[in-house]
Amino acid sequence: MPEKSERSESPFLEIRRDGLAVVTFDDPDRGANVLAETVLRRLDEVVGQLAARARVGDVRGVVFQSGKPGSFIVGADVSEIGGIEDPDQGAEAGREGQRIYLALERLPVPTLAVVGGTCMGGGTELALACRYRILTDHPKAGMALPEVQLGILPGWGGTTRLPRLIGLQAALDLLLTGKTVRGHRARKMGLVEEVVPASLLEEDAEAVYRRILFDDPPSRTGAERGFFQRSLEDTAPGRALVLRQARKTVMERTGGHYPAPLKILDVVRESVGLPVEEALEIEAKALGELMATRVSKHLLHVFHLRERARKGTGLEGREGASDVEPHEISELGVVGAGVMGGGIAQLAAGKGIQVRMKDIEHDAVASGLQHARSIFDGAVKRHRMKEREADQAMERISGGIEYGGFGQLDLVVEAVVERLDVKRSVLKEVEERVPEGCILTSNTSTLSIDAMAESLTRPRDFCGMHFFNPVHKMPLVEVVRGTRSSDAAVATVYALALRLGKVPVVVGDGPGFVVNRILLPYLNEAGHLLGEGASIESIDAAATAFGMPMGPLRLVDEVGIDIAGHAGRILHEAFGSRAEPSAPLVAIGETDRLGTKGGLGFYRYEGKKEVGPDPEIYDLLSGAVPAERIEIDEADIRARLLLVMMNEAARILDEGLADSAADVDLAMIMGTGFPPFRGGLLRFADEVHPRVLVERLREYQAEVGDRFTPAPPLVRLAEADRTFYEAWPAPS
Ligand SMILES: NC(=O)c1ccc[n+]([C@@H]2O[C@H](COP(=O)([O-])OP(=O)(O)OC[C@H]3O[C@@H](n4cnc5c(N)ncnc54)[C@H](O)[C@@H]3O)[C@@H](O)[C@H]2O)c1
Repeated sequence: MPEKSERSESPFLEIRRDGLAVVTFDDPDRGANVLAETVLRRLDEVVGQLAARARVGDVRGVVFQSGKPGSFIVGADVSEIGGIEDPDQGAEAGREGQRIYLALERLPVPTLAVVGGTCMGGGTELALACRYRILTDHPKAGMALPEVQLGILPGWGGTTRLPRLIGLQAALDLLLTGKTVRGHRARKMGLVEEVVPASLLEEDAEAVYRRILFDDPPSRTGAERGFFQRSLEDTAPGRALVLRQARKTVMERTGGHYPAPLKILDVVRESVGLPVEEALEIEAKALGELMATRVSKHLLHVFHLRERARKGTGLEGREGASDVEPHEISELGVVGAGVMGGGIAQLAAGKGIQVRMKDIEHDAVASGLQHARSIFDGAVKRHRMKEREADQAMERISGGIEYGGFGQLDLVVEAVVERLDVKRSVLKEVEERVPEGCILTSNTSTLSIDAMAESLTRPRDFCGMHFFNPVHKMPLVEVVRGTRSSDAAVATVYALALRLGKVPVVVGDGPGFVVNRILLPYLNEAGHLLGEGASIESIDAAATAFGMPMGPLRLVDEVGIDIAGHAGRILHEAFGSRAEPSAPLVAIGETDRLGTKGGLGFYRYEGKKEVGPDPEIYDLLSGAVPAERIEIDEADIRARLLLVMMNEAARILDEGLADSAADVDLAMIMGTGFPPFRGGLLRFADEVHPRVLVERLREYQAEVGDRFTPAPPLVRLAEADRTFYEAWPAPS
């Protein structure tokens, strides 16, 4: 009889015939294995037992495996990280994990990690402490060290062991990005010794374990590096070069706003060639310092926002929500095969959904299909999918100018031109052809969902599904709940967005919904600053210095001058003088410039590459901008750009168009690239505090104009001394 510990404990230890010890992680209380404190404590005991049994010859080899299909260990418990404010306490948490993994590494018998699913952070570090690692070909099987994304570093030996195993360059690529490596790539880089079919383990895992541990161990561990790589990594000047280059890339990618990747580079540089214990101590100290940073707390906050959205239903806080089941979607209709329609069809087909695309023009259908094909081709080129998979996905999309096939659709996304009359008649036509229960949605950016619903006989089955451009890149989908949309419609669209790999946020039906309503005042304020004489460079630089992925005027070009102008007019109609478009934005809208897509806007473009502000722009806009540029303080530019957004966000929350401050923050991060290291627009606003925001707004109101009048709900917050997150907490 094999000896077993209590099966309800995770990890549990079994000692089988011939001293084969099998340690299985299978937390009965969680869907995935997490290295929470209790699990670590139990692992510590198990490693202690293994050491004692190995010394007396009872244990001859150890396997670490997971009892959860498709998941190995997803890392440490992030909720335990959040509470750490003191660098010493953080370093201590690092040392504790390191001590257990060091004991594991020093077991006097061979050890093997069997990774048959998601393996992240502390899970990957456990595998790194083993002598051998194997991956299966399960689609979820892959290893990553994503700590950098939470503003910290892999502090249980990951930063120390990975470069020693796979070489400096390959290790930095993983440590600095947090990316996942799977299958044969992992084997090639030396991260695992073998990739085995998952079916083989299902049939006879023990035979594989015995072969690797006892009978025929892999002859090499770690990377096989070529001559060039070795000469680069094994000499001090070579390493210095690699590290310098990596630092340059980090600075380009992050603007220096994120301390973790820079710290990782320091740790790797300092610890190369040191004995493992000394390297681990450098790593632990660095972990503690990073854990205590504001940036790490903000990134953790954003992680929680994303997790909440991922686990959500779109019906949080609504009565009877638990009785609502989202509809299964296997066939999707897309009406309008333009930029957005083609992108939506591509996305859905790539996720295994049959798509029927309908337009009024043959040429539009052809170009929609072409658009989808080119996105798949790009994915093949970047090794994200195989050619055959791309072909199969394309076969899922059919297109035409008739409504053929609409009789069996589960959901339709309308993406025709942005005109209410056209959308109404299209939706009515579609409703007459689809089966009862089919959900209808519109991808409108600016029109009212309620106004569109008036043409429908089943308005309950209708809501907004607002994707952002380009569809395959932008992570956000605003799920717009109209007054008459049913819970089932909202839940179905929410679940579909998740299945498409997007981050859904439920918003109410109002002009610009949430993201565009907040973004437009920001773009418009950039126009006002330009009109006062600030240069394009100074305005955009103030925004990028704050951490925005691009400046507001560069963003107007990217969105399209025509599209931004149209949205601006809609918001002006809705909100009156405070949203009056600035003179320079109106003026550029009257030219034939389209922005990036036309090669000319505020900036010039060669292909898609921006080559600097157009030197002729000030002459072109001469009636709307002064003849000479004046200097406006960067702090003023930044404050004005941010305050108009925060002021609008207060109105949106007060009007109930977003459920919580957290939803606004998630939507702005995912929809506009608002810098995650700031934690979100309203988290940042709360740090400054609504009291201070109101004071600043009043100053600008006096100095600049009435559009800075503090919004009444923001004034109420300031008077009550409350923050956005206190006043609008997320419903559970
Ligand atoms: N482009 C963006 O940045 C963006 C972003 C988010 C949302 N949207 C919204 O998506 C929708 C589509 O925008 P787009 O940029 O893809 O436009 P587009 O002009 O590229 O495509 C619109 C397509 O609709 C077709 N069409 C027009 N009338 C039709 C009808 N009666 N039946 C079927 N097809 C018809 C046109 O032939 C064209 O192919 C709009 O509502 C827009 O507001 C656009």
